Amino acid sequence: MEATPASRDATGGRILEQAAALARHSDAPDHYTRTYLTPAHQAAARVIAQWMREAGMAVRVDAVGSVIGRYDAADAAARTLLMGSHFDSVRNGGRYDGVLGILVPIACVAELHARRERLACAIEIAAFADEEGARFQTSFLASRAMLGRLDAAVLERRDADGVSLADAMRTAGLDPARVADARIDPARIGAYVEVHIEQGPVLLGEGSALGVVTTIAGGTRHTLRVRGEAGHAGTVPMTMRHDALAAAAEMVLAVEKRCAAGGSLVGTVGILRVKDGTGNVIPGEVELTADIRAGDDATREAAEADVFAACDAIARRRGVALERTRTHHVHAVACAPWLQERLAAAIEETDAERPAPRARRLPSGAGHDAMILAEATEVGMLFVRCGAGGVSHNPAETIAAEDAGAAVRALLAFLRRLPAFPADGPR
Ligand code: GLV
Ligand code: MN
Ligand code: MN
Repeated sequence: MEATPASRDATGGRILEQAAALARHSDAPDHYTRTYLTPAHQAAARVIAQWMREAGMAVRVDAVGSVIGRYDAADAAARTLLMGSHFDSVRNGGRYDGVLGILVPIACVAELHARRERLACAIEIAAFADEEGARFQTSFLASRAMLGRLDAAVLERRDADGVSLADAMRTAGLDPARVADARIDPARIGAYVEVHIEQGPVLLGEGSALGVVTTIAGGTRHTLRVRGEAGHAGTVPMTMRHDALAAAAEMVLAVEKRCAAGGSLVGTVGILRVKDGTGNVIPGEVELTADIRAGDDATREAAEADVFAACDAIARRRGVALERTRTHHVHAVACAPWLQERLAAAIEETDAERPAPRARRLPSGAGHDAMILAEATEVGMLFVRCGAGGVSHNPAETIAAEDAGAAVRALLAFLRRLPAFPADGPR
């Protein structure tokens, strides 16, 4: 699944080259990390805007830094199909996560533009500036802002260097007092479609280049702060300690144990920080995160209740204080059946290599901007096979040029058959 020469699939090869070029805009010199509003992030936004212009789109940058390209319909009054994904990344991430959902639609518009083709609906492609939230712990900031649902309190969040989100915006030439200007009128959007690398092994295992997403797992993320008592590692008897890290370690295992119950439920502690950590000091304060997800909200909520009861019990038994703050919450989302049908039909029409007569349908365990857009419109998602065993949020993440090309062909077929959205309803 290495990057294949452009000649094997010119369209897909170009997408892989673009993803490689964008990945060079990184906050780190030796790996790919691109977080909200860093110089690398702003440079990537400029490159994306240029590619949108070259594809024949009118481009604007919204109040939180998302880049939005527009390709008008044949009828100037037609409502819009919004597509897109994010161009920020996790730390040391994969170059296709998010970016693929920007590049594939741009390639489709470039093809339509080259053929002077206009569709029944207008197309907008949103390159969302912040979805992962790695710098300010702000998941889905850009798509929330687009719907006018950004909580102004996030502007006060600070990155690891103490820079506030509001100051980062000012430095990047954005006005934090005007984030509300990012809001679009949802009535002009007929539907939202997101292309994304699968980030798992299902399509790879079955030999399918593409799949249609049925549901997107909901999730929450909490920050847990454990306060014990710092002390001398050599003098405090083991029976007299209130070690915040030992308590946190038990909490990590409580998350893992409860979330291993099966089905779609998963739980992860991705951050564990010892305040003033020193080899000869009993840890006095620890911060950790708990990310809990499931395909249905009831399953997730039951697991959360059990996990946090277990954490409270651990804190009591060890004589440490526990504070919990929810930093992220998003409900599970079902993709619209009519969009699933149309995306499946487009795969069946264009992907002759698929192993079964019907296109593969599968749930998404990862979160996507589509979950936020679902609050305002109907959403659909097209998954593209992930190579290297299905690994993602990892620099080994990869796709094949042929699969990127297949995604462009399927999305184009979907777009060309999409009827105009009625003026007064979702479809
Ligand atoms: C986004 O990558 C997520 O956390 O699912
Ligand atoms: Mn991601
Ligand atoms: Mn993503």
